[in-house]
Amino acid sequence: MIDFFTESHSAQVVNSRMGPVVEPRLRMVMESLIKHLHVFVKDIELKQEEWDSAIEFLTQCGQMCSANRQEFILLSDILGVSMLVDAINHRRPPQATENTVLGPFHVDNAPIREYGAAISLDGKGESCLFEGTVKDLFGQPIEGATLDVWSDNADGFYDVQQTGIQPTWNNRGRFVTAADGKYRFQGIKPVSYPIPDDGPVGQLLARLGRHPWRPAHMHFLLTAPGYERIVTHTFVNDDPYLTSDTVFGVKESLIQNFAPTPTESTKWKAQFDFVMHQEASE
Ligand code: BEZ
Ligand code: FE
Repeated sequence: MIDFFTESHSAQVVNSRMGPVVEPRLRMVMESLIKHLHVFVKDIELKQEEWDSAIEFLTQCGQMCSANRQEFILLSDILGVSMLVDAINHRRPPQATENTVLGPFHVDNAPIREYGAAISLDGKGESCLFEGTVKDLFGQPIEGATLDVWSDNADGFYDVQQTGIQPTWNNRGRFVTAADGKYRFQGIKPVSYPIPDDGPVGQLLARLGRHPWRPAHMHFLLTAPGYERIVTHTFVNDDPYLTSDTVFGVKESLIQNFAPTPTESTKWKAQFDFVMHQEASE
């Protein structure tokens, strides 16, 4: 048993202070966290001023948080941690649609809209028809699947970022599939936009020589009784930021073809089929 703190045994000393009755998962998580944190500090021989500015940075992140802004999630996003946690927790059969981050702009209880209805209410942007089928792993259509969809408007803002400027529920809606599993809605071709970068996370990105942009995408949250929920987005295939998404959300399988439709009333068509897999039974 080591009692006193030393540089060489620092992590062991800290971990040895845990009491005898600690919830096993918490013990495992904390022991590993302390071990890796101390290795990191030793590896870079952290200077006192650097530790002080790290504390100042975290303080600023906390001060930036409000009911509408979560700077710590944004930090986790740009460090790739959100996508790593998501990947570990959503390993799926290869045919199933891949997951990606929810992001800060989802709003519960968007209006349920009819098959083919418009979600874009502000008259801006290039019209785009989104359509496809929700299927199971065997290619069978899923009836009663809900697709909750949301995107930015043509100026690169979600409605919740511009209350009083954009119509409420602009570029949002929920669609429920019938027996053929099909969905269809009229939106706009989404545009790329920067994540909120007016806080400490934005300053960090700038110091790291990184841009704050996300490639254009349409968000989808799919639920269906008996199937695992899918949180994902589809990405516009010609976007310049596809390979440098600041939150690492792009997966190749989620890049969607946006086809021009010169002879039709909609400017673009974007077809995408979703594949859900059944929830594991406990
Ligand atoms: C989004 O796609 O809405 C998003 C995701 C992560 C951070 C910021 C925005
Ligand atoms: Fe988004």
